[in-house]
Amino acid sequence: MVSMVTESDTTTLDSLLEKVHRGTGYDFREYKHGTVTRRLERRLHATGAKTYSDYIEFLDAHPEEYQKLADDLTIKVSSFFRGPYSFQQVTRLVLPELTLFKRNRRERSLRFWSTGCARGEEPYSIAILLAEFLGSRRQDFDVSIYATDISRQALQEAQVGVYSSKDIEGLTPTVLENYFIRYDKGYVVNSNIRQMVSFSYFDLTSTIQPPFVNLDCIFCCNVLIYLQSQLQERVLSMLYDSLATPGYLILGEVETPTNNLNGKLECLDIKAKIYKKNRRRR
Ligand SMILES: C[S@@+](CC[C@H](N)C(=O)[O-])C[C@H]1O[C@@H](n2cnc3c(N)ncnc32)[C@H](O)[C@@H]1O
Repeated sequence: MVSMVTESDTTTLDSLLEKVHRGTGYDFREYKHGTVTRRLERRLHATGAKTYSDYIEFLDAHPEEYQKLADDLTIKVSSFFRGPYSFQQVTRLVLPELTLFKRNRRERSLRFWSTGCARGEEPYSIAILLAEFLGSRRQDFDVSIYATDISRQALQEAQVGVYSSKDIEGLTPTVLENYFIRYDKGYVVNSNIRQMVSFSYFDLTSTIQPPFVNLDCIFCCNVLIYLQSQLQERVLSMLYDSLATPGYLILGEVETPTNNLNGKLECLDIKAKIYKKNRRRR
C-alpha cells in the first residue's frame, strides 16, 4: 500500500496515540512506530482520511472507530503449538525437571501464564502439552494456566474455545480426538483442557506490579516484538518478578531477553527460546 502519511503528519502521531490512550485505555505510545504506522495507514485508508489530523477528526465524529483501530493494532495472529520446536523442548527440558522438583517438595501446584494469549491457541496448547506429559499423573497436580490479553474480543473467543477446520489444521487426529469435540463445522476444546485455563484481561505494559506471583512457567511469545526496547525491559522485569525460583520463561522465535536480565536467566535452549530463573546463590 502506498503511504498516505506525509513527513509533517508524523508530528501528530504522538497526539493521535495519546488520544487513543484516553479514548480506549490502550497505550500504544511505546509500541514500535513502524508497526503502528503501518496499521494506522490501513485505518486511514478504510476511513478515507488523508492525514493523521483528518483521522483525529474522524475519531471525534465516529467514536466506534476507536475499537476498530484497537482491533487492528493488536495483532492476534496465532496457532496451536506455534513454534513446535519450543513446545517439544518444553516437554524435554522443562516439564521433567519441574515436576521432579515439585514432587521432591511435595507440592501439587503447577502454575503457568500465557501473557498474550490471543484467541486461546497458546494456553490450550500448553494445557494439551501438560495433559500429554502427565498422563495418569494428572491427578497428582493442581494445574493452573492463566491466560491474559488486552483484546477483549480475542479473550471472549478464547473462552468459547471454538475453532474452524483451518485453525486446527496442524493438529494430529489423536490430539483432535482426545482434546476436542466436533461441533457443527468446527471443533470445541473439551472440558478436561478447558478447566485448566482461566482467561482474564491484563495489559502487560500497564504496571510493573505482576498480577501473578510464584509462577513456574511463563510464555511471552510474539508480544515483545511489537514493543520498543525500554518497554520490553519493563515488561520482562515484571515477568521475571512473577516467576518462582526455579521458573521458566519461554519467548517467541525472534525474541530475546533484554540487557537488564543479563546474568539473571540461564539459557536452556537458544533456538527454543527457553530461559530459566535459578535459585539465587548465597
Ligand atoms: C501475535 S499475537 C501472539 C499470540 C501468541 N502468544 C502466539 O505466540 O501465538 C500477540 C497478542 O498479544 C496481545 N497484546 C498486545 N499488546 C499487549 C499488551 N500490552 N498486553 C497483553 N497482551 C497484548 C495481542 O492482543 C495479541 O493477542
